[in-house]
Amino acid sequence: MAKLEIQNLVKQYRSDVIPVNNISLSVEDGEFLTLLGPSGCGKSTLLRLIAGLETATKGKVIIGNRNVNNIAPGERNIAMVFQSYALYPHMTAAENIITALKLKKMPAEEINRRLTQAATTLELTNLLDRKPGKMSGGQRQRVALARALVRDPEVFLLDEPLSNLDALLREQVRSQMKQLFKAQNKPVVYVTHDQTEAMTLSSRVAVLYKGEVQQLDTPSRIYFHPANEFVASFVGSPQMNLFTLQHQDNTVKLGENTIPFNRDNFSGKSIVLGMRPEHINLGKPENMKAVKGNIMLIEELGKEKLVSVKLNNSEIIIRALLSIQNLQEGDPIHLALSPKKFHWFDVSTGQRIN
Ligand SMILES: Nc1ncnc2c1ncn2[C@@H]1O[C@H](COP(=O)(O)OP(=O)(O)OP(=O)(O)O)[C@@H](O)[C@H]1O
Ligand SMILES: [Mg+2]
Repeated sequence: MAKLEIQNLVKQYRSDVIPVNNISLSVEDGEFLTLLGPSGCGKSTLLRLIAGLETATKGKVIIGNRNVNNIAPGERNIAMVFQSYALYPHMTAAENIITALKLKKMPAEEINRRLTQAATTLELTNLLDRKPGKMSGGQRQRVALARALVRDPEVFLLDEPLSNLDALLREQVRSQMKQLFKAQNKPVVYVTHDQTEAMTLSSRVAVLYKGEVQQLDTPSRIYFHPANEFVASFVGSPQMNLFTLQHQDNTVKLGENTIPFNRDNFSGKSIVLGMRPEHINLGKPENMKAVKGNIMLIEELGKEKLVSVKLNNSEIIIRALLSIQNLQEGDPIHLALSPKKFHWFDVSTGQRIN
């Protein structure tokens, strides 16, 4: 039995607003599951349903072996961390961290033990007497994490806890968090729209769109084997190139180039070909298979450049991640594609064709 299980969960506000539409998933002890998706796809609503801050229209939330549908948030034995930290401004860091334990009338000795341990883990020992107004965003977020940790809940829920931090701090807290939750060995459900966070932190990722799970898989499966066109376009930066092409005689035409794709049942239909910019290389003119075009745009990304290439005699523009030095916008270029790394999708359903 999974520690956290969600069965056919639905949340409907009006007939046309269904932020969570029949979602089922389970999270084991020690598993870090991320809900990843664009703004408005239902991530926070799903988390709030698990926490009991929203009432489900249909479906079940099970924690341990207990159906908690009719159990108040405070009795569900979960700890939630919010993007906004939600700290009490008039309390010190220490008071903020232990307030829930005091309410539970936990013995002072145990409260102190937990406070010391969490403060040490999150490097807050020197800040415990300070009020939130005199702390940085990163420090406040660590206090909010400490407050969740000391409660020793059955499940941790985190809603975009790092999104108010600057990029550098986000990276630091991210790696701290990974170790922290590993040591807890509890189910963690983490919400983000940041794919780097999702990929680096998670054991599994649920990609959400329009209230539905598009794919629930390991980060590497999501990247290398996206289940549909939405997942393919949402995960990966720079974004995957996606071209809708006509399938004929077991081939498609990409500009002047013929690409084999042996699927009789798609003959005469449109089909979507996806290729990631990082899987396209600079081609050699003598390579017959290299595709030819002209550089439209070069975007500097530090080590590499994102190069937009318009294929000869077509309107197709391919974006490739290359480390070119001497080429400029307007120059002709050859690109080497990697057919083994192509992704194919059914144009009518968006589903992956294997
Ligand atoms: N109380 C409510 N009444 C009506 N609609 C709501 C309510 N709460 C949320 N919604 C709608 O449900 C949808 C999902 O909202 P939700 O907050 O879960 O999105 P999200 O994925 O967390 O987005 P973000 O990344 O912007 O936080 C949105 O379209 C939102 O407008
Ligand atoms: Mg949200």
